[in-house]
Amino acid sequence: MSVTVRSPGVRSIYGSARSAKALGSFSRPRANMAVQSNVISVAPILTKLKEDCATPLPVLRHLAAAMASDMRAGLAVDGGSDLPMILSYVDALPTGNEEGLFYALDLGGTNFRVLRVQLGGKEERVITTEFEQVSIPPELMFGTSEELFDFIASVLAKFAEKEGGEFNLPDCQTREIGFTFSFPVKQTSVDSGILIKWTKGFAVSGTAGKDVVACLNEAMQRQGLNLRVSALVNDTVGTLAGARYWDDDVMVAVILGTGTNACYLERKDAIPKLQSHNSTSGGMIINTEWGAFSNDLPLTEFDREMDADSINPGEQIFEKTISGMYLGEIVRRVLLKMARASELFGDSISEKLLTPFMLRTPDICAMQQDTSEDLEVVGTILLDVVGVSSNASGRQIVVEVCDTIAKRGGRLAGAGIVGILEKMEEDSEGLIFGKRTVVAMDGGLYEHYPQYRAHLQEAVQELLGPQTSTNIVIEHTKDGSGIGAALLAATNSKYGHNF
Ligand code: BGC
Repeated sequence: MSVTVRSPGVRSIYGSARSAKALGSFSRPRANMAVQSNVISVAPILTKLKEDCATPLPVLRHLAAAMASDMRAGLAVDGGSDLPMILSYVDALPTGNEEGLFYALDLGGTNFRVLRVQLGGKEERVITTEFEQVSIPPELMFGTSEELFDFIASVLAKFAEKEGGEFNLPDCQTREIGFTFSFPVKQTSVDSGILIKWTKGFAVSGTAGKDVVACLNEAMQRQGLNLRVSALVNDTVGTLAGARYWDDDVMVAVILGTGTNACYLERKDAIPKLQSHNSTSGGMIINTEWGAFSNDLPLTEFDREMDADSINPGEQIFEKTISGMYLGEIVRRVLLKMARASELFGDSISEKLLTPFMLRTPDICAMQQDTSEDLEVVGTILLDVVGVSSNASGRQIVVEVCDTIAKRGGRLAGAGIVGILEKMEEDSEGLIFGKRTVVAMDGGLYEHYPQYRAHLQEAVQELLGPQTSTNIVIEHTKDGSGIGAALLAATNSKYGHNF
């Protein structure tokens, strides 16, 4: 499927038509629901789940401090902690003066996007954006590197053919492209980087250990496409650059979607592992890859089992606890245990309930938006998606399970953000908490799941206290990573800046 849009558009690797329709106000607590036998038999499971997922303030404080200390250890030396703290080599951020026509390719989940952005300098800013969004055929997520990159390059070639004739470059120049690649990459420069590992369910063979820019270049050559990658960026880095183009106070960017990650602007003198890198500026964006964080997280038996059954056991534990790819699956595992221990859904267990990843995060989100007396939407989703019948009291329990998992995820994400801000503040007292500081946020989980978002914001406020919280602005910046990559392609243009 492919959609072409002129002008800024919508990306959602997370939302679905079904969930979007069901999204609305917060769910209300329902009083006096009949207590039935299934309530009694699942009660111990629910109680234990809530205990294991609890995130009181001291736990959040501890996690924020652990995040900050893992950041320092990861900045000191590669492998110094769970956090890779990847050098992005992005040390010049867009200023607003950028001009010209640039391409971007945004590969990060089950969809990828190609963009063409016309930049008009300080006066005109982003004149036009055209993009095309394409779903990656599922078999390519498990195929070979060549197959994946050939597919991407073929979409890019068709998109490039549609460019109007109004942008002529001098004969010796090639169009430039910013490549947003949302997986952990060890960058060796701003336009090269070696894939460390795939995440988010990708298992493409032959890419790990290779330069992903070379993979893309070779595929573009096979298509006869004359484009040059001038910036390779993580989606968080693209988001930070895109948001910073409009607002100088942006210091951190976070993605909460299928996967999760955060990056921030670090001072060069606070990066011991950055040895000799000549640059004009005193800072560099660091891609934390915080999905790999794992210190003292409040985990349950369901998380452990899901991790053990995953294609990357022991890895990306923070991501598996807080991101969109996994929340629905954790809930499914809880419901399965409840169904086995009681008659929550009658006396048989459906095939669908037994199937991993059948229940998705948009489903649990939609269930939490149900404000009807008998939780009819919850009943329909349970029937349609996991093939089980339910009564009103059973549905109430299901909603509580969803909220427990969403609350833990949102609050842990909030603690992670505060960990980053505290680390930055410790190194530059007053420059973060003493003034307006913006955290640019993107991703379908944050955008479409109001309860998750509320839990995150609440945790940030609890941790920072009322006064400091007023200076910290979490701003949703939609689809910034593609434009951010195009802007960084301009900033790092080989042909220098005519601005
Ligand atoms: C990847 C990150 C990416 C994040 C959000 C994670 O799985 O490791 O590189 O930024 O997802 O897309």
